[in-house]
Amino acid sequence: MKFIVDQQVEDIEMPENLKLNTFLQEFHSDCPHPECIFGFYGFAFGQSPFPVPKMVQNALISNANKGAYAAVPGIPELRNAISKYNKHYFGMDVAPERIYVGPGTKELIFNLLEVLHGTVILPTPAWLGYLPQIRFLQKNYHMLPTRANKKFSPNDLRKLALRLQDRQKILILNNPHNPTGLLYDRLELEEIADVCREQNITVISDEIYAQTTYDFSKFVSMGKIYPEGTFVTNGLSKSHAAGGYRLGYVIFPQHATDLKRQFKKILATEYTAVSTPIQHAAVAGFEFSNEMDEYFEVTRGIHQVMGEYTYHKLSAIEGVRATKPNATFYLLADFNAFATDLQKMDIMTSQRLSESLIQHPYHTAIVGGDSLVLERTDFSARIAYVDYDGAKVYQNYLESRPKTSSEKVEFVKNNAPKVVAGLEMIERFFENLKKDIPQKFQVQKNLVA
Ligand SMILES: Cc1ncc(COP(=O)(O)O)c(C=O)c1O
Repeated sequence: MKFIVDQQVEDIEMPENLKLNTFLQEFHSDCPHPECIFGFYGFAFGQSPFPVPKMVQNALISNANKGAYAAVPGIPELRNAISKYNKHYFGMDVAPERIYVGPGTKELIFNLLEVLHGTVILPTPAWLGYLPQIRFLQKNYHMLPTRANKKFSPNDLRKLALRLQDRQKILILNNPHNPTGLLYDRLELEEIADVCREQNITVISDEIYAQTTYDFSKFVSMGKIYPEGTFVTNGLSKSHAAGGYRLGYVIFPQHATDLKRQFKKILATEYTAVSTPIQHAAVAGFEFSNEMDEYFEVTRGIHQVMGEYTYHKLSAIEGVRATKPNATFYLLADFNAFATDLQKMDIMTSQRLSESLIQHPYHTAIVGGDSLVLERTDFSARIAYVDYDGAKVYQNYLESRPKTSSEKVEFVKNNAPKVVAGLEMIERFFENLKKDIPQKFQVQKNLVA
């Protein structure tokens, strides 16, 4: 039997995160070298390495008997807990009625793009999840490239908005930012909000990494700065290391009653509601408790120590420029200074660079620039510094928090040997490149289908 696939699906590309899986699997099964057995240094996957907080796990277990469908926007206990969570951590007064729960923020962002008419403005580089959704929905979109500091300028936003004909424009703001790890501060957000008010731009503010901000007092939600025009999305995936739970929420702008009604139709049509036991588990994650507070503080402390180490190691390689992360577990490394040397080795695209680095003798997985909505020839890469045993490292950090710079370096060396070794591999790769060692860079085959 031959099945005919809908043209709309035919036309979209495989989302980059799935491509990455294929890429690594192929590498594993195909690599003939004995050293490949150990695996690879993983800087590619953006997943928090810590265990799901115990109290969230326990709440899930004790609510396993909840078999009834939940209300479409979420169970009242959860919407209340999220409301209080936003008050406590982000200083936002959000009535529970403004909060809708969904199966992950990725789905909720997709639902928002479904319900909102208009042209999408996507600052680049960007998280690899947005573009396939925008394309799938066949929306008009425009990239907004960032400046040298890797942030977009409000003035560039204004200029772009002035050129767009649509009655409504939708800016996807991701703060803190994947892949750069950078944070837009209050002043920057106010400048962006001014342009949004002036140009009638709606904002989807993806704040999934808010809780990972290293100096937490610096995080400000766009929902606070531009409450009348911002949809804030957040969830359990990064802050609670529970991406697999698939639970996110959206905070609607003030005075969006009719829009909420339309949104509810979409949710009811597409997935009815989030799994009821998961919603009960999430209540434990969002309600204030000393245990959760400590969890946030410890995990962001570890991300910071790993981030600083990674930043310093990469910046020490002559020619490499890296963003200094203020949050998340990523940074963006810019290898464009090596463009000529790479091209000499027939490495013309960031995809080829990823392929060269994953192969023997480097065994290092990175996410190349074209997966970050950059030009294919842009030799930038996202480096995720999470390749360590999260449960063990959490415990070690609790027992003895590194304070001085040298203690922090020691902490990384003792707790994240694969991060340390992987960064050395990246350094070696670029050293060898300078030394003109061609055989090291022969890509045996194109690994990505
Ligand atoms: C910027 C960004 N937004 C959203 C998501 C997806 O979050 P969720 O698991 O809530 O769908 C991710 C996951 O990697 C992300 O990096």
